[in-house]
Amino acid sequence: MPTFETHTDANQHYQSGFANDFATEALPGALPIGRNSPQRAAYGLYAEQLSGTAFTAPRAHNRRSWLYRIRPAAVHKPFTRIPADMLRAKLVANFTDVPPTPPNQLRWDPLPMPAAPTDFIDGWVTMAGNGAAESMSGCAIHLYAANRSMQDRFFYNADGELLIVPQQGRLAIFTELGKLDIEPHEIAVIPRGVRFSVTLPDGEARGYICENFGALLQLPDLGPIGSNGLANPRDFLTPNAAYEDREGRFELVTKMNGVLWRADIGHSPLDVVAWHGNYAPYKYDLRHFNTIGSISYDHPDPSIFLVLQSPSDTPGVDSIDFVIFPPRWLAAEDTFRPPWFHRNVASEFMGLVHGVYDAKAEGFVPGGASLHNCMSGHGPDAETFEKASKSDTSKPAKVDATMAFMFETRTLIKPTQFALETAQLQANYYECWQGLTKHFNPEQR
Ligand SMILES: [Fe+2]
Repeated sequence: MPTFETHTDANQHYQSGFANDFATEALPGALPIGRNSPQRAAYGLYAEQLSGTAFTAPRAHNRRSWLYRIRPAAVHKPFTRIPADMLRAKLVANFTDVPPTPPNQLRWDPLPMPAAPTDFIDGWVTMAGNGAAESMSGCAIHLYAANRSMQDRFFYNADGELLIVPQQGRLAIFTELGKLDIEPHEIAVIPRGVRFSVTLPDGEARGYICENFGALLQLPDLGPIGSNGLANPRDFLTPNAAYEDREGRFELVTKMNGVLWRADIGHSPLDVVAWHGNYAPYKYDLRHFNTIGSISYDHPDPSIFLVLQSPSDTPGVDSIDFVIFPPRWLAAEDTFRPPWFHRNVASEFMGLVHGVYDAKAEGFVPGGASLHNCMSGHGPDAETFEKASKSDTSKPAKVDATMAFMFETRTLIKPTQFALETAQLQANYYECWQGLTKHFNPEQR
């Protein structure tokens, strides 16, 4: 059965809805009424606007929030680059000068957990991407693996919004705008610029990040599906205001154009007592996805599994599609039920949160990844093809206990040098299709 319960305390910490105009205060009366910038804000707070889109963006796309905070975000010492010998994250933010992208199908085993103490920010490694942070188009796809909480350390990303997909271990994300607790099967989106700190309730954590340099992620139109279905807006949760009034010797880290910088800061920047607006972090439980598919024959294109999209300037063509393959019933008759063999103009980076993906019997494991770039042929492996070609399709079958996902993009997903050289790259991936032997017989239909 689908899980409808909320996995964290939705009523206490969160407001429901996608990109709503939210309003929340941690102290009564902290939020000004009827204005944004009063001469003196309540409780001695400072008013500050955080814009996520151009001031002049059309109203339907215009995103900004007003923050009422103990100190403005400007209060910190100058940033200096984190020296190379202190740098553990391996980051790429410009994909114009990565190695030539091989046309091969690529697949990776999960990264090992770090041996040294590594927090959420130190634990990033860029696997692939396209475009460039500085031109605000494209994306970077990172894996993270961490084994300690961020201690007196805060981070914001100037390069894009972060779509975080945990695969192992919960993340407690304390942002300027409130607290998000996520576990595997949930996702979080942290907008560009929002400061946050991550603690690890389970000690270790691992997962995937799609860093979106371009237009903000949004819910797709539903067309003939109607007014409900896929990811429903009410299941997106944005935190209520929460703050800390803490002073000490802290560090503010930022990533700008792929480079990590640090600054001393004498207080916690998580000091927003109240805020209102529609530019805010949110989370979503993938188990709430209303999965839609064929009840006659064939199955629809995987765009039917679209959760969030970053639109491009070309109508109908997204810069990024975040697509999931959740548990679902397969009911199509006289149909090859797993994903079919295909070549696409789009490029596909896949990950697995849990279980087994229905096109691959083995080799694609939770925490691992695969990459099928523009026009690279791929599809089910030989074992899956044999099984599915002979299975009884007169009865529905359940694909159960699984959660695979895809970051799909309009332009090439270019693997980094690290991704092409790491020991986790599977040299034998191509072999999964070598057992697809000739069945053709012109004498027999
Ligand atoms: Fe594919």
